[in-house]
Amino acid sequence: MQTKLLAVKTVRKEDEGIMAAAELLKAGGLVAIPTETVYGLAANALDGRAVRRIFAAKGRPQDNPLIVHIAKRETLESLVTKVPPSAVTLADRFWPGPLTMILPKAACIPDEVSAGLDTVAVRFPSHLVARAIIDASGLPLAAPSANTSGRPSPTRAEHVLHDLDGRIDAVVDGGACGVGVESTVVSLAGGCPRLLRPGGITYEQLQAAVGPVEMDPAVTHALAKNAVAASPGMKYQHYSPKARVVILKGSGEDYIRYVNDHKQEGTVALCFDEDAASLQVPAVPFGSQTDAEEQAQRLFDALRRIDGMGASLAFARCPDQTGVGLAVFNRLIRAAAFEVVEL
Ligand code: TXA
Ligand code: MG
Repeated sequence: MQTKLLAVKTVRKEDEGIMAAAELLKAGGLVAIPTETVYGLAANALDGRAVRRIFAAKGRPQDNPLIVHIAKRETLESLVTKVPPSAVTLADRFWPGPLTMILPKAACIPDEVSAGLDTVAVRFPSHLVARAIIDASGLPLAAPSANTSGRPSPTRAEHVLHDLDGRIDAVVDGGACGVGVESTVVSLAGGCPRLLRPGGITYEQLQAAVGPVEMDPAVTHALAKNAVAASPGMKYQHYSPKARVVILKGSGEDYIRYVNDHKQEGTVALCFDEDAASLQVPAVPFGSQTDAEEQAQRLFDALRRIDGMGASLAFARCPDQTGVGLAVFNRLIRAAAFEVVEL
């Protein structure tokens, strides 16, 4: 299959690139689209066969459900059986934007989307190209991140092509994604709202909006063997470059000393901008120590660059776990397969 690279000139339904993407989606095709978080691999969420092709293209485990993307708030009611007051509050406050809500699913959601669960994940993205494509297709779109399963999520069209060229119908180029890590996932299907995956909307923001929010232990810790994951995606190794990643937790000075003392052939440093000049190994900086938003935006690109350098070991700086930093930490600790050295 030849994967088309579609450009968007104006963010309108009539735009050639947007129309071409919408036509492919209506015909049951797979199109990678830019969103404010990461690129998503979209298909018609109401067509089980189209959705099965997403799993095949990514090599995604069958039991990992997908997020359904909408471009109008009203569409939510047709996809779920219940919209509790907390969901109304969160939608008012954070939609459109990087927030996904888990709610009891309506009968129209194919089993392929929900992976057999009785809930569905719904998100209303803020990216104008994503919204225009959803709108032009007239469909809710199921879309996981547009990477090969297990690889860092794509934040640029070229990342998508690197993983999926020849396996999908098209990629719409919308430039680099702004947030850089995937959406915050919160479950509203049980009693207390529960954070399943941290993202661009922070834990602190959620609590300020709806009061107490539980944090799933898998946000910061490895799941015990045989434990059932609240969010199936959290049980898989994720975001991994080919190199072994080890997180070093401590001050900048301690980090620089440790890396310089332990360097071998093939070692690189996944560091903050401030550390780079003092390191005696190739540095892959992913943002300033004081700017968690910038770290989120650059992390996945940095993880992919490590592969391009042929590194075998990456020593990573440990991000601060407040605000968007919690999302950066959550992704990095999975890339590191939970290997952390306390300095
Ligand atoms: O920002 C994002 O969320 C991106 C863009 C493309 O929108 N999408 C994304 O999708 O990150 P994906 O498939 O890579 O991650 C979805 C996560 C997975 O961890 C999955 O297990 C979880 O959401 N999820 C989906 N449906 C769920 C459900 N019904 N219950 C619990 N977790 C669910
Ligand atoms: Mg993903």
